[in-house]
Parts: sequence; structure tokens; C-alpha cells
Amino acid sequence: LIAFLAPKPLLGQRVLITAGPTFEAIDPVRGITNLSSGKMGFAVARAAREAGAEVTLVAGPVHLPTPRGVQRIDVSSAREMHAAAVQQAQEAHVFIATAAVADWRPASPAEHKIKKDGSGQVPQLSFVENPDILAGIARSPRARTGELYCVGFAAESENLQANAQAKRARKGVPLLVANIGPATFGRDDNALLLVDEKGVVELPHASKRVLAQQLIAEIARRVAGDVI
Ligand code: CTP
Ligand code: CA
Repeated sequence: LIAFLAPKPLLGQRVLITAGPTFEAIDPVRGITNLSSGKMGFAVARAAREAGAEVTLVAGPVHLPTPRGVQRIDVSSAREMHAAAVQQAQEAHVFIATAAVADWRPASPAEHKIKKDGSGQVPQLSFVENPDILAGIARSPRARTGELYCVGFAAESENLQANAQAKRARKGVPLLVANIGPATFGRDDNALLLVDEKGVVELPHASKRVLAQQLIAEIARRVAGDVI
């Protein structure tokens, strides 16, 4: 009942969210990934849904329950996440990129499991860069005209504010959200710094659930065009 009576600032809006890590294969049984838990992205999906949005969540490999009423698309690699996100972005009004996308993938994953050959020789891996999902979508015509509002996330370990502003410009997005504090992966709490053209808003330390609700409220105000 409380959720039913709550304000719905994103009613009628389609929101696309990427979340979690990606997994990049080395061979059929091995790969590289990272420690993203997906918790922040899933909390943002839940908050967006509760704000009345139609939510699509493109999730890397995580073991988290799908928030109620959210459409979930499971993917594994950065390239799969890219394909799903680009397709879904065509219809979205808001894109929030919370995923910790692997920056590189093994250039040529082995078709069969790599075996030790007994000589003590170790395999040499070479990497290629993955597509930048956020930057690519932020360059699309619908994003450029403001029909699609793009939000990036960043985990910075130093010079938070300066790095976040630089990253916002590099990605070409109106809003970039920086995690404050070094070890946020896997935790249930966080603190966020919201960086946009006007400056900086801090969302102080709280649960990811509360932060997600505050972030969605901030995004809804910007999408509605009434940010002072
Ligand atoms: N991102 C993305 N696709 C990638 C890399 C990043 O969509 N291939 C998105 C992330 O989901 C996040 C934002 O871009 O919203 C910033 O990610 P981050 O890793 O902080 O930035 P990078 O541009 O990859 O720079 P670096 O890791 O070198 O700091
Ligand atoms: Ca990166």
C-alpha cells in the first residue's frame, strides 16, 4: 500500500539499466571477471520501478533476485551486454550504466580447454578492448537530442571530483555518479557523488537501497527538466 501511494515521478518512462560484472572467456572453462556484486544496479532497478518506470535490467553474471516488476535480460560478456543494451536503448527514455564492464577481453579465446603441456610453459594471453557501451549509446541520435537521458557510474580511487568531471565529459553524458570510498563492491552501503554541468551533489553514506531511491529522485527531476 505504501508503495502504491508513493509518488511516481517516472511514470510512463522506460528505464534501461546495466548491472553487475561481465565475464570474458579465456577458454570454455575459464575467464576473467571482476568483483562487482550488481547490488547497486539492482537497487537502482527496484527504485526506478517503484517510481513508476517500465524497467529493463541487463545483468551480467550475478546471483541476485530480480526486483519485482522488472524485465531482466541475463548476459555474460561485454559484447553480449553491449548488444542487449544497444537494442533496448532504442526504446528507452533513461539509460543508467551501473555495470562494471570488463575493459578488455582475451583476443582469441581457445575453443578447447587449454592444457598444461608438461614443459612448464605458461600460456600468453593478449587482449583487445571491449566496446564502451555507455559512450556508444550516449553518442546515439536519441541521446544527443535529449530523448534518452544517459547516466554513468564511476569507481574512482583518487581525485574523485576531478576524475568524475573528466569522465563525464569523456563519456558525453549529462550525469555521472561516482562511488565515494574505495571498497564499495559487494557492500550493502555506499555514498555517492553526483556530477553534472551545474556542479556536485553529495548523497551521504546510506544503504544502497536508500541511495538508489535518492538517485532515482535526482534523475527524475533532471529528466523532467526542473533541476534548480
Ligand atoms: N562502461 C561501459 N562500457 C565499457 C566500460 C564502461 O558502459 N566498456 C560504463 C560503466 O558502466 C560506467 C562508466 O562507463 O557507467 C564508467 O566506467 P569506468 O570503468 O569507470 O570508466 P572507463 O571509461 O572504463 O575508464 P577506466 O576504467 O579506465 O577508469
Ligand atoms: Ca573501466
